[in-house]
Amino acid sequence: MGKTIIISNRLPVQLQISNGTIDAIPSVGGLATGMKSVHSGGESLWVGWSGLTDEETPAALENEIDVALKKHGCAKIKLTEKEIEGFYFGFSNRTVWPLFHYFSEYTEFELEFWNTYKAVNQKFADAIIEKSHDNDTIWVHDYQLMLVPQMVREKRPNTSIGFFLHIPFPSYEIFRTLPWREEVLEGLLGSDLIGFHTYDYERHFLSSVRRLLGLDVSFNDVYLENRVIKVDSFPMGIDYKKFASAAKKHDSNGKDSDLQIKLNSHKQSAPGTKLILSIDRLDYSKGIAKRINAFEYFLNKYPEYKEKVRLIILAVPSRSNVPQYQLLKREIDELVGRINGELSTVNWTPIWYFYRSLPFENLIDLYTSSDIAWLTPLRDGMNLVAKEYIATRTDKTGVLILSEMAGSANEMNEALLINPNNFEEQADTLKTAITMPEEEQISRNTFLQKRLERYNVEVWANEFMGALNRKSEENEPFISQ
Ligand code: ADP
Ligand code: F6P
Repeated sequence: MGKTIIISNRLPVQLQISNGTIDAIPSVGGLATGMKSVHSGGESLWVGWSGLTDEETPAALENEIDVALKKHGCAKIKLTEKEIEGFYFGFSNRTVWPLFHYFSEYTEFELEFWNTYKAVNQKFADAIIEKSHDNDTIWVHDYQLMLVPQMVREKRPNTSIGFFLHIPFPSYEIFRTLPWREEVLEGLLGSDLIGFHTYDYERHFLSSVRRLLGLDVSFNDVYLENRVIKVDSFPMGIDYKKFASAAKKHDSNGKDSDLQIKLNSHKQSAPGTKLILSIDRLDYSKGIAKRINAFEYFLNKYPEYKEKVRLIILAVPSRSNVPQYQLLKREIDELVGRINGELSTVNWTPIWYFYRSLPFENLIDLYTSSDIAWLTPLRDGMNLVAKEYIATRTDKTGVLILSEMAGSANEMNEALLINPNNFEEQADTLKTAITMPEEEQISRNTFLQKRLERYNVEVWANEFMGALNRKSEENEPFISQ
């Protein structure tokens, strides 16, 4: 039995250099936070981009960088500024991301982006081929690396290769608009097992395979000449224990962070005021601007809640070189400014807006102090924040309002599910959440917590790896013929 090699664009840590010293900052995003728990067992090697371009990497620090990454069980792929521009900011985040999240109007089809994406995927594949042996298991992650499975398969026909997509796979009608649609499907089909968060994404993928490549698909198996590829859904879980025990410790240690002091002072100065929390990367798919508008709509529809609720928006900077993200940042700054300007009173600011990444302890402060979590993605592969909020509610109180368009809504039926485009429904749901009796909160969260605890990220990874091993074994005799 060989080792497992995890491969993704983003590593669990991002390196930064300041004054000649190297800092490793934890990465934000579902892939990194989820897989980190799986990887920390120490059995795997994680290969990806360090967060520094070649131009930002002084030659004298190359060795130190390798040592810093090795401490985290990681090895780096070197990428130039130009490659990051075309591969990451370009094809990954100006083509695939908007297209797969149904933002066709933001999708750019640029041949240069595609060419760089192909070249960088080849770089990742070459690195894996160099670092792995035939009996290793390769687990490729996400939309930045969809060509890697086939590129590795060409050189290592017997290796077991799994691929997991952390974002939605769109319906055939959307996917077919991509000029390089066949190449992307063929790239993915280099895997033995392809995993998605939900059955719908799996179904959309199979439909595209059948209609665009004309391949035989039976149930969730795709038949190639010499191999059968399994396609299945594996909804990703969280490290439930980590969140629940951090919240328990937080409740009992009595040492408050600055943020906690501010949250406590809010509670003391305005007893009975409800805190509504939203946490996302600053991304148009997360529906942040619509949520702010819906909050204003709620305050106008139910003015009796003015000075009785506060919305906390924590947005973590993301992909700030992409024009749509810059425009969104401006839009949110203006919206928050306008609404706070119009509605604030001497005692009350309706929205607290933080644009930054926060350490884990502060995330726990926010989760545990908020009466309601309100998450309104317009489209989201999974949304782990929803699961993290529930896991931290040690006394089982708290209300989760969650968009139906998040993959996690499939497993979280006891949450209050909303359509993020329906302001009327959201205003009413906010009222329901604010007035929900504690017994009802406890009853809903008891079900949610049990499910999250049982289907945690470790179970998710084990189920994926188990299915991959079974499929690779089935494929072995065909390949060696
Ligand atoms: P996505 O993968 O699209 O970013 P998810 O909700 O699945 O969305 O995952 C986001 C992850 O990033 C969560 O694990 C969350 O705890 C973390 N996160 C989000 N915002 C912040 C922040 N401001 N600071 C630190 N971590 C954050
Ligand atoms: O979970 C979806 C995802 O796109 C991951 O692939 C990615 O790591 C994360 O969100 C954050 O995005 P980025 O890596 O572009 O910062």
